[in-house]
Amino acid sequence: MYLGHSDPPRKRKASALVSLADGLLWRRGSAGTTFASVTTHLVTGAQGYVGRYLTRELLDRRSDGTVVGVGRSVHSGEALDRYAYEAADILDVPRMRTVLDRYRPERIFHLAAAPRNGSRAEIAQTNVLGTVSLLDAILGLEGYRPRIVIGSSGGVYGALDDDQLPASESAPCVPVDVHGASKLAAEHMARIIGERHGVCVMLARIFNVCGPGQDEQHVCGRLAAQLRPGEGEIRVGNLGATRDFIDVRDVANALAIIGERGACGEAYNVSSGDEMPISGLVDKMVSISGFTGVVPPADSGQRMPSVPRHYGDVTRLRELGFVQRHRIEDSLRDLIAEQRR
Ligand SMILES: NC(=O)c1ccc[n+]([C@@H]2O[C@H](COP(=O)([O-])OP(=O)(O)OC[C@H]3O[C@@H](n4cnc5c(N)ncnc54)[C@H](OP(=O)(O)O)[C@@H]3O)[C@@H](O)[C@H]2O)c1
Repeated sequence: MYLGHSDPPRKRKASALVSLADGLLWRRGSAGTTFASVTTHLVTGAQGYVGRYLTRELLDRRSDGTVVGVGRSVHSGEALDRYAYEAADILDVPRMRTVLDRYRPERIFHLAAAPRNGSRAEIAQTNVLGTVSLLDAILGLEGYRPRIVIGSSGGVYGALDDDQLPASESAPCVPVDVHGASKLAAEHMARIIGERHGVCVMLARIFNVCGPGQDEQHVCGRLAAQLRPGEGEIRVGNLGATRDFIDVRDVANALAIIGERGACGEAYNVSSGDEMPISGLVDKMVSISGFTGVVPPADSGQRMPSVPRHYGDVTRLRELGFVQRHRIEDSLRDLIAEQRR
């Protein structure tokens, strides 16, 4: 249940968790039992695309798990049991320190990020300085050393040679755009600060996310929005490029697994491991949607993007126990159905 943010008592006593109210976990029951057995998670960017699914995933995985969501906007969406939301800017270190001190989450998932089409300054500030600020907020609390999963991107690899694909986590990282560079910088800052100060930092390199609820900033969401019956012609990027699409629900599951079992200092690709040509993606979406308009031919002259082929090796994530549950067809079907509702 979401209610707001009044200050909780410093000591909590209890046995049964009944609600997450007024920004505090309130338990009632046998005196002397402490709060410590509950697994408390904090998700930055909780109201974003991945954050919404991750919040659900964390709540569903453990009946005693609780989640604190953080973002700058006011709380939106439905009220959930065992969930609290705190409106906070990750760049505001004192505010974040107050939020962290209030809940002392054992696991933090850092997904707050600038949009890909943000300005260079916004991208650098939110992605790099925002990550450093979050770590500063953590380090300012004595004796508090949570596990933290940094939401990074498959874009850190840039354009690899054919013989370096699929990209394993040890592949060279030479990003080709400001967004990828900011993610790589954030990775380095988090890893180094974590190692220096004993904070367990894990890096989740997320590839192309797809699935219900996706906005038009991303390729699947953009295509789905155009594939309505009665539309004339769709606009597509270079159909010859390849990408690695993973369902947002699988991303949420993967992040939760990394938070539980990942090794400190390690990077994990969060991807399907399948190389999908954009032309194949468009074909599938056209077939699922029943679109009868014009799709530009594959050789219609668009410039090849700076990363022509991109897909990730998912061995390391699978070794943690990750099993992909959604095929790309399921993701696309659910995305299109959700857009038409
Ligand atoms: N979606 C993808 O295809 C994809 C692929 C690779 C990597 N990733 C990474 O995965 C993570 C989640 O992606 P997403 O698609 O869920 O992103 P998203 O939908 O854009 O959500 C990001 C959230 O971050 C919050 N935020 C931004 N600046 C903030 C600040 N200064 N303080 C607090 N919150 C802030 C925003 O919420 P408010 O407006 O409420 O602040 C926003 O909802 C990101 O790190 C992204 O780079 C995503």
